[in-house]
Amino acid sequence: MTTTLDAPLRSQDFVISPFENLGAEITGLDLSLPLNEADFARVKQAHLDHHLVVFRNQRITPQQQIDFSRRFGPLQIHVLKQFLLANHPEILIVSNIVENGQPIGLGDAGKYWHSDLSYKALPSLGSMLYAQELPEEGGDTLFADMHKAWETLPVALKKAVEGKRAVHSYTATYSKPKFGAQWRPQLTEQQLAEVQAVSHPVVRTHPENGRKALFVSEGFTTHIEGLPEDESRDILQALYDHSIRPEHLYRHRWQYGDMVFWDNRSLIHLATGCPDHLRRKLYRTTIEGDAPF
Ligand code: SIN
Repeated sequence: MTTTLDAPLRSQDFVISPFENLGAEITGLDLSLPLNEADFARVKQAHLDHHLVVFRNQRITPQQQIDFSRRFGPLQIHVLKQFLLANHPEILIVSNIVENGQPIGLGDAGKYWHSDLSYKALPSLGSMLYAQELPEEGGDTLFADMHKAWETLPVALKKAVEGKRAVHSYTATYSKPKFGAQWRPQLTEQQLAEVQAVSHPVVRTHPENGRKALFVSEGFTTHIEGLPEDESRDILQALYDHSIRPEHLYRHRWQYGDMVFWDNRSLIHLATGCPDHLRRKLYRTTIEGDAPF
């Protein structure tokens, strides 16, 4: 006899509405309920098609965010352990809030354009960022489509980088003055060992949609292998400038209840910041991807 516990999960009646350049909004889906296979497949496809989905009006616990994220792959634990949520190390607290003189989270995450954890041998497939506290002003996140960046790149630049590899390092911008010292504690030997520089193709192929994308960012890329330093710097700067042309961008203006899930294989992102005195707190889970090729 089938008990209620064994009963198949009901489909939810949700709507996927694409944005203009990239991304889509998903309304009518409750992520506090486990998704059945058909609903999960629709969400996964929307994520692949639009590179970013915004789940509106969510009320989920940290464990529900973790469980949902895990359906896409294993989760990665951030190297700055002091900013992980207590009892939920899979969640990185992204926040500018200081309590008792101590920052409760990584306050300056994403001040440079980057793809999460591109400094790992297995960079992130995607990240989910769930709003907890939002400022009345500012605090938007910008996303840039690296498939479009590649496809519209001038031929000379395409030729200059095709087949090349670039080095990514967590420490590329770690101590830059843009970051406040309180958010960037000195890394221990063990932490440095966890984030040794790696090299990845400058142009990667998305393992699921087969499209090529630029895979460099000002946040973590140090240089292109095999090129003189000045040539590498000039080419990277040209790639960065091209990547963030307005027609490649989506600006996310956060609302309470939002959880944004983006594809780090297709996009780079930037936290635009908010005035220091306004509180901002979000919870991030980061899903492991495969080795870029
Ligand atoms: C991040 O880079 O993961 C954080 C983005 C943000 O705070 O808007």
